[in-house]
Amino acid sequence: MKKLENRVALLTGASSGIGAVIAKSLSNEGVEIIGIARSEVGLKKTQMDIEANGGKFHSISFDVSDVSNLSQLKTKVENLVGKIDILINNAGIEEYNYFHNYTLEYVQKITSVNLIAPMEITRQFLPELLQNSGHIVNICSLAAKKGESFNATYSATKGGLALFTDALRQELHGSGVGVSALFPGLVSDVGMYSDSQVKAPLVLGTISSKKVAKSLIKAIKNNKPDVIVNSGPLRPLLAINALFPNFGNWFARITGITAFCRNRAELGE
Ligand SMILES: NC(=O)c1ccc[n+]([C@@H]2O[C@H](COP(=O)([O-])OP(=O)(O)OC[C@H]3O[C@@H](n4cnc5c(N)ncnc54)[C@H](OP(=O)(O)O)[C@@H]3O)[C@@H](O)[C@H]2O)c1
Repeated sequence: MKKLENRVALLTGASSGIGAVIAKSLSNEGVEIIGIARSEVGLKKTQMDIEANGGKFHSISFDVSDVSNLSQLKTKVENLVGKIDILINNAGIEEYNYFHNYTLEYVQKITSVNLIAPMEITRQFLPELLQNSGHIVNICSLAAKKGESFNATYSATKGGLALFTDALRQELHGSGVGVSALFPGLVSDVGMYSDSQVKAPLVLGTISSKKVAKSLIKAIKNNKPDVIVNSGPLRPLLAINALFPNFGNWFARITGITAFCRNRAELGE
């Protein structure tokens, strides 16, 4: 998919954070957006920002953790705009904690929001994406490239999402549907890290939400597979870690990454 103008995108997590910024950037490219989230107030804010700029945005308030009822979301989207061309699975949650302190309910919830919902939404919308030569983007995380201590549930769901994306991309090769995975590092200006009381170690680096949105647009236009969005020197380190995981674990300890994650767990972030 080279041209984005006049395409219709379904974007989950559009009420705040990175999703709201992605919505504005896509709208600037001429994309009509259906934004999904639970917060009607948040969706309204994104809608007003986009409409003030002459763009088109429709809100559907929906809890994507209700995974057995995502066919209802499909019907709502059909009634609103008909078929979509682009699907962006962005909604996500995380909570740093000692693994034994998580509840089963939380493990089920994070798995539903971060992994089952993206898979089920993709399953529901794939037939029309195949008809429209569409594009799917799944927002993963660097935690999908190297597990993050004290964030094991999140790492598991994002790692699963990354491999789902990889498998689907191979399955859909030649179908006309592009499939991209984005792996952002810590986003400084909005979203789940921006109000953290703990400063990230220098080696992790931080990025802006605009950089994530820009990379996403490039990924769709150029049908890019895996896109790491980060400012630090992590790419070669991840390659070394893939060969020598003990080195990666040691590196995380001596550079303060493990302590950073532990501090976030202690603070209940
Ligand atoms: N921020 C970072 O540093 C960072 C780094 C790497 C990857 N990411 C990924 O980027 C994505 C966006 O994160 P963010 O930082 O923008 O987080 P955020 O500010 O907390 O926003 C999360 C979005 O997901 C929506 N959401 C959460 N639970 C939902 C549910 N059950 N049903 C429907 N929508 C739901 C939220 O809307 P409602 O609360 O209104 O439902 C909100 O719009 C996530 O997948 C995250 O894992 C973030």
